Amino acid sequence: MDILTTEHHEVLELIDEMKVTTDPGTLRDHADTIISELVRHSVAEEMFVYPAMRKHLPDGDEAVEHDTQEHKELETTMKKLEAVDADAPEFRQLLGQLESILRDHITDEETEQFPELRARIPRHELVEMATKVELAKKVAPTRPHPLAPNNQVFHKLVGPGVGLVDRLRDALTQRNT
Ligand SMILES: [Fe+2]
Ligand SMILES: [Fe+2]
Repeated sequence: MDILTTEHHEVLELIDEMKVTTDPGTLRDHADTIISELVRHSVAEEMFVYPAMRKHLPDGDEAVEHDTQEHKELETTMKKLEAVDADAPEFRQLLGQLESILRDHITDEETEQFPELRARIPRHELVEMATKVELAKKVAPTRPHPLAPNNQVFHKLVGPGVGLVDRLRDALTQRNT
């Protein structure tokens, strides 16, 4: 879960950088990085961490329902974010929305669910889970990757609203099953 916590803070740092950035190219680049990182992160959690929460936490099912719902909200917001121009006013508004859902979600995971899971999961399962999460990162490198645009060129070539979030999720889910 350490790697997941690190990823949370990497994404929040990128969002913070975007607050002091005005260059649309940089904003687009950062947004695309955040989208591909968060989709991969969510898929890894859903495949390898949330099942362990269901198994080991007393309120596991409830916690997983709640977290999965928040992943959906994040994805809905990211779909909108992928489709708006970086210099449009909605871009900032969507970024703010993404940040607020994300901060809430991260706080839940880091202060409640991850510590509870660490306390209850048998050591060998914890090691196995960490290995799988690590592997998901290697199997699905976000940059460079044909599905994960790493700069504004992607958006110039393909245009906005291309279903990046859905395509990434499909590709990652298939690769890992
Ligand atoms: Fe997370
Ligand atoms: Fe999550």
